[in-house]
Amino acid sequence: MAGNNVTITDNRNGNSAEFEILDPVVGNSSIDVRQLTSKLGLFTYDPGFQATASCKSDITYIDGDEGILRYRGYPIEQLANQSNYLEGSYLLMYGELPTAEQFQAFEASIKNHTIVHEGLMQFINGFHNDAHPMAMMVGVVGALSSFYHDSLDINNPAHRDLSAHRLLAKMPTIAALCYRHGNGLPPIYPRNDLSYIENLLHMMFSFPSEEYKISPIATRAMELVFILHADHEQNASTSTVRLSSSSGANPYACIAAGIASLWGPAHGGANEAVIRMLEEINDPAELPNYIARAKDKDDQYRLMGFGHRIYKNYDPRATIIRKACNDLLDEMEGINQPMFEIAKQLERIALEDEYFIERNLYPNVDFYSGIILKALDMPLNMFTVVFAMARTAGWISQWSEMMVDDEQRIGRPRQLYTGVELRDYVGVGER
Ligand code: CMC
Repeated sequence: MAGNNVTITDNRNGNSAEFEILDPVVGNSSIDVRQLTSKLGLFTYDPGFQATASCKSDITYIDGDEGILRYRGYPIEQLANQSNYLEGSYLLMYGELPTAEQFQAFEASIKNHTIVHEGLMQFINGFHNDAHPMAMMVGVVGALSSFYHDSLDINNPAHRDLSAHRLLAKMPTIAALCYRHGNGLPPIYPRNDLSYIENLLHMMFSFPSEEYKISPIATRAMELVFILHADHEQNASTSTVRLSSSSGANPYACIAAGIASLWGPAHGGANEAVIRMLEEINDPAELPNYIARAKDKDDQYRLMGFGHRIYKNYDPRATIIRKACNDLLDEMEGINQPMFEIAKQLERIALEDEYFIERNLYPNVDFYSGIILKALDMPLNMFTVVFAMARTAGWISQWSEMMVDDEQRIGRPRQLYTGVELRDYVGVGER
């Protein structure tokens, strides 16, 4: 059959039908299987969505074989070196780099929304002091929808924009409040004279009695961590945001769902898991045992911060952040923890090991971001919160895009049913 079509034949009965092949600007084409069920009575089976394009998107492009990541067409390497997180957020949200005036207005709007409703403090104070900050983030970000009723009409573009700005602006404030609550520290309000990242560091580490001295080294490293994590097309948490919002749910609830998905160690929880793994290894002499466990088919153990579903040659974010990580460790005098030495040895051993080479298991972005955050003295249970703050730009951009996509419908996957076909109810006395 000529043209951009594919013919699918059901060899059981000889029925066949044609399906259009949709071509992207760049990357893999997709078979449009929307009529597969009506034409052939079949579903596709794809657990983990390894070969399923769930939407069209203009935002982020990844080529996992070539190690390419671009936001709106701009290579991540250029953005990491020349841009900053807030400018990158504008790019993701609106599709173009801002002019100086546009950036000024955007930054002013974000700063205007950094303070949270004081009533929200009651939610934060309601958590036990040993609550994981990610647990608090899921609850508190979801609770925003009970405070900001003036921006909940998802069919109103002005409401959508206001919600998006509020989410981007309030995430660092909420994150810092969660951290401070867990440590019995008084809340610190945002300061509009500081940049987005400086403000986060200020709200986390200042005291009412003493201002925190914001280090340019820390600010620069955090800018990098944030911009590298800002978006990553249809990953688990972003897909969760899209699936939640496909029912028309409000953006605060949907971003809370994204935070919940991100928390898992196979996704955003990996940066925390990397440090827990390095702490557990503790002694370089133990490394061979851990490598052996990771390779053992009968052991569930995995090396955290290694491997990626999409990147099979290298993770371009890891290449950028690896250098920054090494520079930071060199730059920070006195930072000579044995953990960093274990990390370097682990990286080297894994990169030379057949098991890891065969399976394309390279250190991913979270291997190095975990080490950077540790070097900056970021508390361990805040690592995934940092990822959540950074990914908010991507979540709200993908959500905003979806809201104006005519092809989007409520997300409703089908299944391959493998349970009991039919049976009669049996009373409790007869079971
Ligand atoms: N350590 C040891 N073996 C591994 C690892 C690992 N970290 N990751 C994958 N494998 C093995 C796995 O056992 C399998 O081996 P075999 O073919 O012999 O059965 C093979 O590699 C393929 O693994 P998979 O589970 O089919 O790969 P996946 O694409 O479904 O999973 C992943 C990708 C990232 C979930 C996985 O590599 C992993 O669990 N890594 C550790 C957690 C981690 O660092 N996650 C952060 C990802 S980057 C940040 C983000 O995007 O969220």
